[in-house]
Amino acid sequence: MKTREIALLGESVLRQIAQPIDDATNFAVRELAQTMLLTLEDSGGVGLAAPQIFESKRLIIVASKPTKRYPYAPEMPATVMVNPEFTPLTDTIEKDWEGCLSIPSIRALVPRYSSIRVCYTDLDGQQLDVDFQDFVARVFQHEYDHLNGLVYLDRVENNQDIISEKMFLTLIAGELN
Ligand code: NI
Repeated sequence: MKTREIALLGESVLRQIAQPIDDATNFAVRELAQTMLLTLEDSGGVGLAAPQIFESKRLIIVASKPTKRYPYAPEMPATVMVNPEFTPLTDTIEKDWEGCLSIPSIRALVPRYSSIRVCYTDLDGQQLDVDFQDFVARVFQHEYDHLNGLVYLDRVENNQDIISEKMFLTLIAGELN
């Protein structure tokens, strides 16, 4: 099992509506999830959607953990979600920084619901409900958007909220001191 190339912004697969997965227990789905987990681990990201490895299917991984880019991220087991959906639990929307493996070297402030209820199917075919807050809710909504042909830049309110990754790292280094 190997990692896969990441689709970069401009690839049409990132702008397509991904197809629902009929049977989450299918071996091919497990293989896809495994490849995505390896690719995510290799890239140091906190989430990945199948279209980002050129598979237009409704499967995402949310894997929050503290990294150089996101030092405050909570630690959680990497979670594979098939056919995920969500509803906001409150109207509260917050802006915070996001980046994307498909859009290297850029960061931007993105408004997202801060509290959501997520429903998904796992690789054993179980339907699960889980509530996410703040950073994890943000990662989920970012990955979910990829399934609908959206990237986080589509949600930026003002072009001045877009900065280079280098400046972003300088910014958070300052906040940590
Ligand atoms: Ni992304």
